Amino acid sequence: MSVPLLKSLRALADPTRLRLLALLERDELSVLELQEVTRLRQSRISTHLGLLVGAGLLVSRREGKRVFYRRNGEMAADLRELVALALRGAKAEPGHAADLVNLRRVLHLREDQARLFFNQVAGRFDRSYGPGRSWQAMGQLLLRMLPPVVVADLGSGEGLVSELLAQRCRRVIAVDNSEKIVAFGAAKARKNGIRNLEFRCGDLEDPPIAPESVDVVILSQALHHASDPARALAAAHRVLRPGGQVLVLDLLRHTFTRVRELYGDHWLGFAEGDLERWLELAGFREIEITVVAREEQPPHFETVLAVGQRAGGARTVIGPSSARAGHAGADTPTRLQGENPPGADGERSRHTR
Ligand SMILES: C[S@@+](CC[C@H](N)C(=O)[O-])C[C@H]1O[C@@H](n2cnc3c(N)ncnc32)[C@H](O)[C@@H]1O
Repeated sequence: MSVPLLKSLRALADPTRLRLLALLERDELSVLELQEVTRLRQSRISTHLGLLVGAGLLVSRREGKRVFYRRNGEMAADLRELVALALRGAKAEPGHAADLVNLRRVLHLREDQARLFFNQVAGRFDRSYGPGRSWQAMGQLLLRMLPPVVVADLGSGEGLVSELLAQRCRRVIAVDNSEKIVAFGAAKARKNGIRNLEFRCGDLEDPPIAPESVDVVILSQALHHASDPARALAAAHRVLRPGGQVLVLDLLRHTFTRVRELYGDHWLGFAEGDLERWLELAGFREIEITVVAREEQPPHFETVLAVGQRAGGARTVIGPSSARAGHAGADTPTRLQGENPPGADGERSRHTR
């Protein structure tokens, strides 16, 4: 018989160790939890666990100050057989049933701790902090749902949105009328190795983009800089292929006039009715205007999302324009499923045609 096997046999030849092993057969437990189940002294439990780990019967995992133990799932076949035999004996002991009852209680307690937390935050969970629960992370998750479309980001800035989109889109054309911003954005994209993002210097009211060449036009906090927003939306319509979509994120009409000197804004946000009228005039259909966010700090800016579709394609279809240019494979038009997203509390939503 091999020396490791002898060591394991010696470790098995103790009723307390067998009792612990039986408890750890299915569940991973800490010393504290084992103490709650067995009522044995902590030091005694620790000594036995150390021996069982040394004999290759258990493995441990440290998490902060706690160490968790569980059965070694990678035992050699002969040792596994021995352990199964020993455990059969341990489970026949009169105390084992009581141990199992205590074990269930301890495991419920563990679950209750998490449930207690979520019960306490229910109703305000969406607004409360949760580790790792950031918009940045959720943005990455939502990006995975994006089909491989061609996007024009008008008034792109340095490319905050464009860079994100370029991770999933076929191509992103970022247009901005500030030469410095364009130079900076292009250099940043190059530095980050993003090859499907192209910066172009131009006006969002007459973007340097070929007609009917993109699937989606985005105007994120850019339309309020246009001298003539209706003209900008007409330009968006022109560069979209039939069936393509315009997505406008902007401020809802407000009275905080200091945005002019603070941020160079030309418009104090927009009334939903104006956005709707301009989109219609531009030729968009399936128009949807939704207030999607309200800032908690004064002056409580509200953000409006306006969506419109260029006629000629099926409703809410976002299909890659390059499919029309005759590319195959991944260019297959992609249909975005479903109706409008469910509105959040207090969210206003309106549909025209
Ligand atoms: C508030 S930033 C928004 C940047 C970006 N879209 C975002 O959401 O992070 C507005 C951008 O629009 C650009 N801009 C202002 N007027 C413009 C115009 N007429 N044509 C193109 N870009 C313009 C500015 O240079 C600036 O980069």
